[in-house]
Amino acid sequence: MNANNKFVLITGASSGLGFELAKLFAKDGYDVAMSGSSDRIFESVKLIEQLGVEAYPYKADASTFDGVEGYWNFVEGKNRKIDAAVLNVGISLGGAFLENKLEDELRLIDINISGTVHMAKRVAHHMAKNKSGDILLVSSLSATLPTPYETVYGPSKAFGFMFAEALREELKTKNINVTAMLPGATNTEFHHNAGMDNTFFGDEKNKNDKTIVATQGYEALKNKLDHVICGDEKTKQEAKENRTTPEAVKAARHAQKAKPE
Ligand SMILES: NC(=O)c1ccc[n+]([C@@H]2O[C@H](COP(=O)([O-])OP(=O)(O)OC[C@H]3O[C@@H](n4cnc5c(N)ncnc54)[C@H](OP(=O)(O)O)[C@@H]3O)[C@@H](O)[C@H]2O)c1
Repeated sequence: MNANNKFVLITGASSGLGFELAKLFAKDGYDVAMSGSSDRIFESVKLIEQLGVEAYPYKADASTFDGVEGYWNFVEGKNRKIDAAVLNVGISLGGAFLENKLEDELRLIDINISGTVHMAKRVAHHMAKNKSGDILLVSSLSATLPTPYETVYGPSKAFGFMFAEALREELKTKNINVTAMLPGATNTEFHHNAGMDNTFFGDEKNKNDKTIVATQGYEALKNKLDHVICGDEKTKQEAKENRTTPEAVKAARHAQKAKPE
């Protein structure tokens, strides 16, 4: 171990935005703790180690209390100062509310809301003791609108956005920075995993580049911004318009994009 290296904890880092963020931290000389629910996490860690840092994999289901607590105990057990934490893990669920299973919707809430609060609690206490730290919370552009046909997802991300802003205000007296990252649709496996291949979001050309999105989030954290919209100019413009567009109008627009064909 290089004792001078900083240390970052990232949730949901075996692929997608979590993995891209792991690369950015590693290139800046951070050792990285990475979690995922599948065996892919072990391969992803090897790729991060090739960047010359240490990387630690942890496989667990972030929808369970024990999965989140187990990852925290694993990271805390390294007996290192945690300089940064990326609360990234999150899922969506496409389809009609009347057709989706309640247990799948509650699982989404367990991962996106309960698990995020759980890990934030552990990380905030650790960083408060050290009187320093950076927390990047991955919310979504979906936090700024109702999301029919991903009915529970958007509200879970609105929770994350406002949670991050509130935490930021409370933790600034402890020298802890909190930044919320709000990506527009991005070309990861996210929509496929949500069963949304047969929607507007199933088409790669309608999505932002994950490397650009992750870089914008990373830079916002380094610049200690309260939040950042991530994606191209169209995405940023949409976020701006969402501040004044009536919720019913935004809901109708999103329904067109997310309704299965
Ligand atoms: N992609 C987008 O369009 C988009 C837009 C706005 C916001 N976001 C947000 O960005 C974050 C990352 O999404 P992404 O696009 O990178 O998604 P992704 O490609 O589906 O990746 C999700 C990551 O989370 C892990 N994961 C999924 N379920 C898990 C569970 N139950 N327990 C532990 N790990 C789990 C996956 O690893 P395993 O496969 O190993 O489980 C993977 O590493 C999410 O919070 C999402 O809401 C995404």
